[in-house]
Amino acid sequence: MTIDCKNMNQSAAFSAIPFFCLLFLVSFGNSQLDYKYYDATCPNLAKIVRYGVWSAIANETRLAASLLRLHFHDCFVNGCEGSILLDASSNFTGEKNAFPNRNSARGFEVIDAIKDNVEKACPSIVSCTDILTLASRDAVFLAGGPFWPVPLGRRDGLTATETAANTNLPSPFEPLENITAKFISKGLDVKDVVVLSGAHTIGFAQCSTFKQRLFNFDGAGNPDPILDASLLGSLRNMCPNQDDSDSKLAPLDAATSSKFDSSYFNSLVNNSGLLQSDQALMSDNKTAALVSLYSKLPFLFSKDFGKSMVKMSNIGILTGQNGEIRKNCRLVN
Ligand code: HEM
Ligand SMILES: *[C@@H]1O[C@H](CO)[C@@H](O)[C@H](O)[C@H]1NC(C)=O
Ligand SMILES: *[C@@H]1O[C@H](CO)[C@@H](O)[C@H](O)[C@H]1NC(C)=O
Ligand SMILES: *[C@@H]1O[C@H](CO)[C@@H](O)[C@H](O)[C@H]1NC(C)=O
Ligand SMILES: *[C@@H]1O[C@H](CO)[C@@H](O)[C@H](O)[C@H]1NC(C)=O
Ligand SMILES: *[C@@H]1O[C@H](CO)[C@@H](O)[C@H](O)[C@H]1NC(C)=O
Repeated sequence: MTIDCKNMNQSAAFSAIPFFCLLFLVSFGNSQLDYKYYDATCPNLAKIVRYGVWSAIANETRLAASLLRLHFHDCFVNGCEGSILLDASSNFTGEKNAFPNRNSARGFEVIDAIKDNVEKACPSIVSCTDILTLASRDAVFLAGGPFWPVPLGRRDGLTATETAANTNLPSPFEPLENITAKFISKGLDVKDVVVLSGAHTIGFAQCSTFKQRLFNFDGAGNPDPILDASLLGSLRNMCPNQDDSDSKLAPLDAATSSKFDSSYFNSLVNNSGLLQSDQALMSDNKTAALVSLYSKLPFLFSKDFGKSMVKMSNIGILTGQNGEIRKNCRLVN
């Protein structure tokens, strides 16, 4: 049975159902969101976003990964409210310059182009953060991954915080317990850590994010002993032991770097995770058991990825009269 708590008419408001709905609304902070939120006010939204993501990926496959990561970096810093999209201004330094984003976060032009088209069709109706949420879902789907329905109605924030981006986003150099703690502080759990790490089935990382594993992991000139020997050899070729290799790129999931599948988990099982933080999922019994499960059951990963993404997309959202609908995703109105 499903009851639509948001689209009830007046007479229903005097029946027993709304009391149930009241409890429902109180118990879930995200219940202001609605799958049909823009159906009346921007009926072509889904098509406009889908086309924008499709054309971006048609030109450059990697943008699917970049958009997915952008949404993650939006949601983990003061909630999914589009703060990562804001350029620096006189009121704040912005998150684009924070360590995890600088020379790394990409895909902003794709969101700008989609926003331009959305503004032409329905001006000042759709938030930038909802566009980014939809775009990341479409990016996964167009890269061969699962599809999941996205509840909408988030509003855009009025500020951005460089220090929050530096402290809230996980680093590939910190231990699994610290990464897990960051997820838990956002209302996610250990399972979400494993499932959402599966996003690393697509996209690339710069040598600077894993080079410490290749040459002098222990301070005595040895590589990370866990790293698969043949992968070590190819990574040393891609990332020679000199500073000018820092920004070179390696695929996060070498087996199928542009396909959203579950081979990331196979790689972890055979010691071929790229980032130290990826491989660390095998160092804890609980996360290792989940990795092993997803490597064996790709369908379960697809299903759980959609569920965890919806949870992530609901972190710290603004609704009602909070925030605004930005006209330009880079600027507060
Ligand atoms: C669990 C902790 C995580 C850590 C430590 C981490 C760290 C990183 C690092 C260091 C990179 C490479 C960035 C660069 O070299 O420029 C990266 C790339 C990426 N991350 Fe994560 N990440 C984590 C979780 C996630 C999550 C939850 C998602 C999405 C749901 C995600 C999606 C991506 C994607 C798609 C890329 C490739 C981006 C591209 O090619 O443009 N990551 N991540
Ligand atoms: C296509 O991608 C290239 C980089 O791969 C970029 O320089 C160019 O501007 C893109 N073209 C369009 C139309 O987005
Ligand atoms: C900075 O904040 C003030 C007060 O909220 C506002 O009037 C002004 O437009 C903001 N400036 C920018 C560049 O966002
Ligand atoms: C991990 O978290 C602990 C406790 O908050 C902190 O003291 C430590 O510096 C963190 N480690 C890294 C590598 O960030
Ligand atoms: C590990 O798994 C990956 C992805 O499935 C595969 O490409 C690679 O060949 C495997 N390596 C070893 C040593 O089995
Ligand atoms: C984790 O697994 C190892 C070996 O598989 C075992 O020795 C250890 O007791 C397990 N730890 C916990 C907390 O279950």
